[in-house]
Amino acid sequence: AIYGSADAASRAVAEEMARIIRQKQSEGRPAVLGLATGSSPKKVYAELIRMHRQEGLSFRNVITFNLDEYHSLGPDALQSYHRFMREQLFDHIDIDPAKCHIPDGTLPFQEVHHFCQQYEQHINDLGGLDFQLLGIGRNGHIGFNEPGSHVNSRTRLITLDQTTRNDAATEFGGLANVPRKAITLGVRVIMQAKRVVLLAWGEHKAAIVKQAVEGPVTETLPASYLQGHPNVQFVLDESCAASL
Ligand code: GLP
Repeated sequence: AIYGSADAASRAVAEEMARIIRQKQSEGRPAVLGLATGSSPKKVYAELIRMHRQEGLSFRNVITFNLDEYHSLGPDALQSYHRFMREQLFDHIDIDPAKCHIPDGTLPFQEVHHFCQQYEQHINDLGGLDFQLLGIGRNGHIGFNEPGSHVNSRTRLITLDQTTRNDAATEFGGLANVPRKAITLGVRVIMQAKRVVLLAWGEHKAAIVKQAVEGPVTETLPASYLQGHPNVQFVLDESCAASL
């Protein structure tokens, strides 16, 4: 779907998420949402907060799983995704903090594998993700599934790509401060989500989005795996969709 602006697109995506939440509420069930960080989803979260305040949208039945976290950033570190989610969404809505899951970036290496298995198991025990929100990295990563990630990859510790680390350098005050590793939800879990919505705004994402949508399905561009998902939508603004 192509929208005139990221604002209009973000409103539509937030409305879809709200519909799922309300539908599950009416069935007396939890809504299991996969959430993303980065600049792309910020307006979606702002819109959800507005709907909470002005339209009484409640998140009491919502359970969330974030895609990824830097290793080894603590939850209060300025660039941590724990902090991002609190500031951009969780602190402003009526969600139960115990139902908000984000990979733990502080675990010692020997505990990461077990943690990742449990993280996935938890999602599966809930019947999988009802909805997965995604951004896309300039190298085509989804979550932190960097080029080379297998379509069946599991939730795991991954070494970040040079492109990814360069793109994060400003935020971290220099490349040297950017973590080298991160924990990411695997491609497999993302592909099993009942619905996937990928957001991309702006000219700088146009080339990679074109390759992901129109190019071959390849592990060198993990977002291209989504071509095989039965219920996926790329939500773009006009400048990002310009060359499609
Ligand atoms: C990070 C995140 C990804 C995100 C990507 C794009 O690498 N781990 O999940 O999609 O950045 O970020 P942005 O939305 O800021 O362009």
